[in-house]
Amino acid sequence: MPEQAKGPDLAKGPDLAKGPYLAKGPYLAKGKVICAGLGPGDPDLMSVKSDRIVRAARHVAYFRKPGRPGMARQIVEGMLRADAVEYPMEYPITTEVPVDSPEYNFQLAQFYDLWAQRLAALALTEEVVVLCEGDPFLYGSFQHLWSRLKAQTEVEVVAGIPGMVGCWNRAGLPITWGDDILTVLAGTLPEAELLAQMQSSDALVVMKTGRNLPKVARALAAAGRLEDAVLVERGTMSGERIRPLAGLDAADCPYFAIVLVHGHGRRPQIGGPE
Ligand SMILES: C[S@@+](CC[C@H](N)C(=O)[O-])C[C@H]1O[C@@H](n2cnc3c(N)ncnc32)[C@H](O)[C@@H]1O
Repeated sequence: MPEQAKGPDLAKGPDLAKGPYLAKGPYLAKGKVICAGLGPGDPDLMSVKSDRIVRAARHVAYFRKPGRPGMARQIVEGMLRADAVEYPMEYPITTEVPVDSPEYNFQLAQFYDLWAQRLAALALTEEVVVLCEGDPFLYGSFQHLWSRLKAQTEVEVVAGIPGMVGCWNRAGLPITWGDDILTVLAGTLPEAELLAQMQSSDALVVMKTGRNLPKVARALAAAGRLEDAVLVERGTMSGERIRPLAGLDAADCPYFAIVLVHGHGRRPQIGGPE
């Protein structure tokens, strides 16, 4: 039997001279999985590359909650080929059980295993496009498929403008100046951790707010940052709403919502510090 070509030696780490590090084949598959980052919601903010890939796709997969269209699918409405085959990947659970419970871990792991198997089987012969809101490698569900698929199938990931970038541009203020430190937090973190990070950063982005918003607002108040915080709901999407967070009913917050605290760092000004 001919000796199989060896893949990269993962223990050695990336050879940066060779450019972006990808676990490359050999793959048996003739097709591949392409995850197209779609940007923050407004289809006009999609890259030319993702636009081209989405319009040409024969097989299109996307995540959604059962009974919902799915945000990524909504972004590409009107763009798919008439003969495109769609694969809605429906989460078995979302917020019903705590994210750190064994039940959540088991159900989600099983779900990602199953879809990774299905997509890998499809990619034996076909190109499959997975749709992803924002950028696929920023808290994206696709990452859980990527980690399962990358050793067996060619996987291409196409960058997208992250949701937070769309949000801070719509909020109409620069997020960082000079040497401001920007920290990106997940609203799912414990309140004490949120508070510690909020106290030590100049500019803040808090993602995964939704039902975590009351906790996020309490931490911001304790850090003395609540008055500077802006809530961006559905940034660049239809139904967008941008308001100061202070004084809002924090119990009423959609899933696609981000809290921003803008930095105020160094900027050259006549009469400023020499
Ligand atoms: C699972 S993360 C996915 C992030 C995505 N991959 C990205 O690049 O933005 C989902 C969270 O991103 C934030 N988000 C993403 N896009 C948003 C938008 N257009 N408006 C408001 N929040 C958004 C929300 O906080 C939401 O809970």
